[in-house]
Formats: sequence, C-alpha cells, structure tokens
Amino acid sequence: MVNVAVLGAAGGIGQPLSLLVKLSKDVSSLRLYDIVRCPGVAADISHINTNSQVQAFEGNAQLKDCLTGADIVVIPAGVPRKPGMTRDDLFGVNAGIVRDLVQAIAENCPKAFVCIISNPVNSTVPIAAEVLKKNGVYDPRRLFGVSTLDLVRASRFVRDLRPSFDAGTEIPVIGGHSGNTIVPIISSVQNAVHFSEEEIKTLTHRIQFGGDEVVQAKNGEGSATLSMAYAGYTFVNSIIRAMNGTPTTVCSYIDVSVDQSGFEHYKNLCADQVEYFSVPVSIGPNGVEKILPLENLTEFEKDLIKTASSAIAQNIASGVNFARK
Ligand code: NAD
Ligand code: LMR
Repeated sequence: MVNVAVLGAAGGIGQPLSLLVKLSKDVSSLRLYDIVRCPGVAADISHINTNSQVQAFEGNAQLKDCLTGADIVVIPAGVPRKPGMTRDDLFGVNAGIVRDLVQAIAENCPKAFVCIISNPVNSTVPIAAEVLKKNGVYDPRRLFGVSTLDLVRASRFVRDLRPSFDAGTEIPVIGGHSGNTIVPIISSVQNAVHFSEEEIKTLTHRIQFGGDEVVQAKNGEGSATLSMAYAGYTFVNSIIRAMNGTPTTVCSYIDVSVDQSGFEHYKNLCADQVEYFSVPVSIGPNGVEKILPLENLTEFEKDLIKTASSAIAQNIASGVNFARK
C-alpha cells in the first residue's frame, strides 16, 4: 500500500488524475495539494467508496504535512499552453513552481518517487534534479519526467490509420517531450502494420505535434488534461507495480547517468551530449534499474534522435542554469 501526493490537484489534469488514483486498490493515502480549490476537489473525490483516505492540503503552509510520508509525488502544477505558444514559453512561470515544490520534497519526503508532468518537461526534470542535488538527497533512479502521453498518442494514431491495430499495443517513444524532441519508434510495429515512408513521416509529425491539436481545439482554455490524466495514472500504476516487486518497463525522461552503459546505445546516435533523455527503462522497488536498448532503428529514426538531442541539450542547459542561479 502506498501514499500518493498530487501537487496541482485542483487543476485540469490534477482533478481527473486524482480521481483515477482514488480508484487504485494499492493506494492507502491520497494527498491532494494545490494553492486554490483543493478542499472542494478533495471532499468530492473522498466520497468514492474505495479504501484510500483522501486529504486536502491548500497553500504553502500545508505542503509539509502533505508530503510527509508520501511514497510517490506527482506534479501537474503549473500553467498550460494557449494557441501559438511552445512548451518552452511556459518556462518563465513553471520553472519556479517546480523548483519550489521539489525543494519541499527534498525537505519532507526525499525518498519519494517524483513524477513530473509540468512543462517544459525537458527542462523541469533537470531543475528538479538540481534542487535535489543541492539538498544532498538526489537519487536519479527515483526522478521521472512523464512522457507517457506520447506513447498513448502513438498507439492511438496508428490505430486511426490501421483499424486492425490494437490501440493497446505499446509503441516506444524516446527523446524528450516537445515537438521534434519526441521520437516515436514506429519501426517497432512496422511488421504488423506496414506503413509507407510517407505515412511514417506524417504519423511521426502527428505524434510530435499531437499536443497542438488539443491546444488548438481548446482554443485558449488550456491543453490536454483528460488524456494526460489517463497517461499519468498509467505511469503512476507502473511505479506502484514496480514498488510492489513486479518487474515493469516504461518509457520516461530520466537522468541517463543511472545506467551509462545502457545509454551508450542511444548516446552514439545523439548529435549533442544529453544528460537526460526519454528511454525505455526497467524499474524495480528502488526505481530505474536499467536502460533498455531498442533494436533495428531505421535511418529515419536515427536522424530524429540526432535532431532531438540538440534541442534537448539546450533545454537541459536552460533548466540547469535556472536552478543553479
Ligand atoms: P491547470 O492550469 O488546469 O492546472 C494547474 C494547477 O496547478 C492549478 O490548479 C493551479 O492552481 C496549480 N498550481 C499553480 N501553482 C502551483 C503551486 N505553486 N503549487 C501547487 N499547485 C499550483 O493546468 P493543467 O492543464 O492541469 O496543466 C498543468 C501542467 O501540465 C502544464 O504545465 C501543462 O503544460 C502540463 N502538461 C504536461 C503534459 C505531459 O505530457 N507531461 C501533458 C499535458 C499538460
Ligand atoms: C501535451 O503533449 O499535450 C502536453 O505537453 C501539453 C501541451 O502543451 O501540448
């Protein structure tokens, strides 16, 4: 049984994500934190008849109590995009939010698994790592950037083109979580679905810019929340399974120093040096155990990795510089 804290729980992602976590039989305590609206959201969710206990924490003064004893902390706190913005445009607001929340994690639950949803993930994860390092409590095996929505989209968008494809089939997506840093590995299902080169290019572009479809459709009212809540819950469930001793694999944006030799496979394809990258990993009770290889990448996918690595290197530098200031 695990204790899960959601920071930003009253937001567009936070509410449905908290609802889904409330359905888990493996959660004993669900702590909901936000700077606004939290008591109402928590009171509502707390009436659902599953065994976990729901508590509301609102405002900085209650953050310590929210985090003390938390095993998993999920962070969807921060502002979302509006049409015309990139995820990097969110850095100015969200970098500080993530820095301060992770400082509180370092002080109150330094051994928790930390799952970062707040954008730009390519930079907020390095910020979190720097804060944990400054506090002397950094364990890179326990820090994750949640890029699961890219995998969810990849499988669903393949199904849109090939109705015989099972949308539940996992397609690895590596690199980062923004535009051309998102690298879907469609070759992993090419034997089953047979796409032409042109179709692969179109599909890859759709997966890379899938977030824009939602931002445009919401027309100023934010970005993906419901599909993200599903993706976030899927990810949290994988962590819970791993904590409970079931070997689990996920793709996540992590500090690749956890397994230097495992990362060699990807490093050789990168144009720039990257300390963080989304890769398939096996996770166990203590977090990331191994970076897993992806075999038989196509030349097209290798080129995507090269392009992604240059942008990610810059995103990492922005995050690290911000946190070290
Ligand atoms: P939202 O505005 O609906 O909700 C954000 C919530 O964060 C609000 O309730 C707000 O009060 C809260 N918040 C702000 N500052 C806080 C602080 N200091 N402490 C605690 N809570 C705070 O936004 P949303 O649609 O839920 O999106 C949240 C973030 O998730 C955005 O940055 C968005 O870009 C990102 N996102 C990431 C992915 C992904 O795949 N990783 C997908 C979708 C959205
Ligand atoms: C997404 O991929 O939907 C999120 O990162 C939100 C966004 O800004 O597109």
